[in-house]
Amino acid sequence: MAKSKSLPLIAVEQDTLPTTLAPAELQWVKANGFTGQRGRLLALPAEGGTLGGYLFGLGRADDRPALLLGQAAATLEPGKYRLSGNHGDPTLAALAFRLGAYRFDRYRKPRDPVLLEPVEGADAAEVDRLADAAYLARDLINTPANDLGPEAFEKEIRAFGKRHKLEVKVTAGDELLKQNFPMIHAVGRAAAEAPRLVEFTWGKAKDPKVTLVGKGVTFDTGGLDIKPSAGMLLMKKDMGGAANVLGLAHAIIDAGLRVRLRVLIPIVENAISGPAFRPGDILRARNGSTVEIGNTDAEGRLILGDALALADEESPELIVDMATLTGAARSALGPDLPPLYATDDALARDLMAAGAVSDDPLWQMPLWAPYDAMIASKIADVNNAGASAFAGSITAALFLKRFVKQARAWVHLDIYGWAPEAKPGRPFGGTDQGIRAVYGYLKQRYR
Ligand code: BES
Ligand code: MN
Ligand code: ZN
Repeated sequence: MAKSKSLPLIAVEQDTLPTTLAPAELQWVKANGFTGQRGRLLALPAEGGTLGGYLFGLGRADDRPALLLGQAAATLEPGKYRLSGNHGDPTLAALAFRLGAYRFDRYRKPRDPVLLEPVEGADAAEVDRLADAAYLARDLINTPANDLGPEAFEKEIRAFGKRHKLEVKVTAGDELLKQNFPMIHAVGRAAAEAPRLVEFTWGKAKDPKVTLVGKGVTFDTGGLDIKPSAGMLLMKKDMGGAANVLGLAHAIIDAGLRVRLRVLIPIVENAISGPAFRPGDILRARNGSTVEIGNTDAEGRLILGDALALADEESPELIVDMATLTGAARSALGPDLPPLYATDDALARDLMAAGAVSDDPLWQMPLWAPYDAMIASKIADVNNAGASAFAGSITAALFLKRFVKQARAWVHLDIYGWAPEAKPGRPFGGTDQGIRAVYGYLKQRYR
């Protein structure tokens, strides 16, 4: 196939074969039993046994994932394609293709890319912006902890800052104690690479303050209450909240939304060594409250507690945190549907609606106050782990809520950050969650 020339890729709804097909092509399509079945790709023959392009089946509209075209991108041979047919919203179609074409090639020979010509009527800048945001999050999550420890992750954020001409501030090691981030320090102090809080702001001071907080645990052994091997295997992804916050920040900045954005990323490795924090320890948090450690594996809420307290101090309009916080979230809703918690039901509805259009689903769960009793401590203000295994995602959210007092609104996403099997627009592995939902909401509100 000539590299420079693109091949047609024709999207076909169920039982609506394109009228542009030549009689021989139509015969070929019928002989193959292709009627536009969802996800089916059919090569079209051309003169002299060459490849004339592809039909891609869209199935019926009422049972079509928003990013279905991503499946074509994941299946097609490397090369360049030009899209036509009944693909629907051109921006979404182009984005779906890009999201599906993602590959993580850092540790193997890169494959030639699968590319799409600009789609007529698509907002190319928006497609680039949202594809770059998702790729950034996926690349960071997929990178293993030996190449993305706290130092390397800080470097990545500094590079992000340089790209967007932002000043990045880092508070690390013992300086965390001096600046009153005791829980970030306690969780991260046993690791070879020091714990740190990385932050930057962007935008005009007078614009509404939106603050993003992301859990940046570069690896979660569970600490002294160590995880079993099966539970530890995927824990390179425990910085998925931070990765998605960075992707979201990219989209917000690149689009120039009218917000004063602040990003706070506590970064630690939850490791095991002499200085490790212990079960039974009592920590004093940044906000002055005391936290009894019921389980050192409930570390994410500790580092987020200090970061949320800092975020809250300037009483922003909105705080959004993202975190691979609990296994219970996955038990409740599975890997593809992150629980969303919000102090405001209308906000939760708007976020879910914004996510639904671009296959970035979220599902509201309750900040069920009676369950606060499950994280009560007999000798401190709160325990970091529930006494039972019940409602683990809710009790984790209730724990975080204690650190947000002054912000106008707060949203917490308990994401999984990983696609255990490929789906349209979501290849296997590290995955973006919440970026398009939150960006879509902010864009409607603060454009
Ligand atoms: N990073 C994990 C949560 C997690 C586990 C997310 C598996 C996705 C998949 C978190 O730090 C954790 O270990 N949470 C514990 C909390 C418990 C000890 C209260 C959990 O969910 O088991
Ligand atoms: Mn843990
Ligand atoms: Zn964790």
